Amino acid sequence: MEDLANTHAVSLSPAGEAFELPREEDYDREFARLQDLAQRHREAGREIVVVMGVGFVGAVMAGVVADAPANEAGEAPYFVIGMQRPSTRSYWKIPYLNRGLAPVEAEDPEVAPLIERCVKTRQTLTATFTYDALQLADIVVIDVQCDYLKETLGDVRQGHADIKALEESLKIIGRKINPDCLVLIETTVPPGTTEYVANPIIRKAFEQRGLSQAEPCLAHSFERVMPGRDYVASIREFWRVCSGINATAREKVIAFLSNVIDVTNFPLTVLDRPIESETCKIVENSYRATILAFLDEWSVFAERNGVDLHKVVEAIKVRPTHSNMIFPGPGIGGYCLPKDGGLGVWAYNTLMGFEDDIFKLTPMAIDINDTRALRAVQLVRDALRNMGKIVAASRVALLGASYRQDVGDTRYSGSELIVRKLAEMGAETVVHDPYVKRWWELEKQDSYPRPGYSMARFFRNQEGLRDVTVNARIEDALEGVDAVVLAVGHEPYRLLDPDAVVAMTGRPIALIDCFNLLDDSQIERYFELGCEVKGLGRGHVKRIKDRVACRRPDS
Ligand SMILES: NC(=O)c1ccc[n+]([C@@H]2O[C@H](COP(=O)([O-])OP(=O)(O)OC[C@H]3O[C@@H](n4cnc5c(N)ncnc54)[C@H](O)[C@@H]3O)[C@@H](O)[C@H]2O)c1
Repeated sequence: MEDLANTHAVSLSPAGEAFELPREEDYDREFARLQDLAQRHREAGREIVVVMGVGFVGAVMAGVVADAPANEAGEAPYFVIGMQRPSTRSYWKIPYLNRGLAPVEAEDPEVAPLIERCVKTRQTLTATFTYDALQLADIVVIDVQCDYLKETLGDVRQGHADIKALEESLKIIGRKINPDCLVLIETTVPPGTTEYVANPIIRKAFEQRGLSQAEPCLAHSFERVMPGRDYVASIREFWRVCSGINATAREKVIAFLSNVIDVTNFPLTVLDRPIESETCKIVENSYRATILAFLDEWSVFAERNGVDLHKVVEAIKVRPTHSNMIFPGPGIGGYCLPKDGGLGVWAYNTLMGFEDDIFKLTPMAIDINDTRALRAVQLVRDALRNMGKIVAASRVALLGASYRQDVGDTRYSGSELIVRKLAEMGAETVVHDPYVKRWWELEKQDSYPRPGYSMARFFRNQEGLRDVTVNARIEDALEGVDAVVLAVGHEPYRLLDPDAVVAMTGRPIALIDCFNLLDDSQIERYFELGCEVKGLGRGHVKRIKDRVACRRPDS
């Protein structure tokens, strides 16, 4: 491995395997391999689909397309080429896919067999590093990222959409594709991108190729994929919205999605213009971010006035009109909700050129969500203080690193902010998560999610966090700690017995419940064991504490 590293750039897989990046002389051979494959599949009546970007979304989407049900002739309708740029960070995904291995970690047991079946048995999926694959495509599906880069914590307006990767992809697509190839943008983009950015880029590239009469065949259909146990189903068995830039693009995108998605049970919604389907994604996620942010202030109100907000929410949710009320936990993570509203605000000012300030709720919701985790740390501080301890001299166990329950995805999780703020205040933190093996946001904070954009930049005293490991055994994480933060609603955490927890910590602890994981009898038992309990939105714990204190013989 060291030899490889010394001679030529390598890309390391998460498991640590080194893959040498392709050399110049590899490109012609690789394209010849693809031409040969494409010709054979065309002879079998298949169309060639190139999926650009085989990340969280693209890898599974590539599998879903390659796994599309047989057509009337009994044949798989598509041969799929997953295309990934050969960067040191991502190249390893190509050899992985070509071995039949999924390049994403997923809790969904369907992901691994889907990829293996398509690569090895059906042989309808391959992966490549060469953009020349685009020359062979009837359909290109774009699944590259489009980030929103924030410059400060809690002020989303101080930031911008980073559409560089997308623009690069579009330029290359314009240079390589056949003019009648359908280009389907699935990336979540600032509204207007298909018409204001993609169309001119591809049109210009066509002109440079002497194809000035050719109309780009552009469509948009965003992904609603949900990481977790139903990853594949959230692509294949879920409702889709789509649109095309003209009638041809609209017909083609409808035909394509109807072949790969279960449109019988989940009918397509076809909107008139790409800007409408682009806006649809942004409004959908901004709405969700806003209803989550809404309860933040009521959560603090509840904590200060003896109210258990969870019981209040359940009481309200019986009304069908209010059934989607949702408690926010310690921050709203995942890749989409923290950024998508920002893409909308940015598009209004930058792509459309409006100077006025029409957006109030959308950025405010994101700002509230982005800083909510800090409240959990205040509760750690207050609970420890009630026990006569300070954060700076305490060891804190964080249970849960991912951004939501029962998944291993740590992107923008509230837990990351909790650890960072605790480190700033001088605590030592130990972490457990049954679904997370490596916490890249901490381990690689110099370069992940990209150089200069780690959350570390918003806090002092972060250097030591590179060495934080995720314990696989909860006993190891809990031993000797002063405080325990129940940060994520993973199922195993709901089942934790107070006596067993205190036996593992070896002492009474400060316990912070961020997600309604404790019922009242568990809270009572923790108090009986001499612990201190606090929780987001859980003001009623004080009543339970007083009740237990009254029963003490010395009271
Ligand atoms: N992850 C989710 O849960 C989710 C859900 C719904 C929608 N989305 C949207 O889907 C899109 C993709 O997200 P993701 O999570 O898959 O991102 P990701 O970062 O996991 O994957 C993007 C991939 O594209 C590759 N790439 C970038 N530029 C490229 C280029 N020029 N040519 C070829 N490959 C290139 C990257 O190396 C990476 O592997 C985003 O717009 C995101 O908002 C994501």
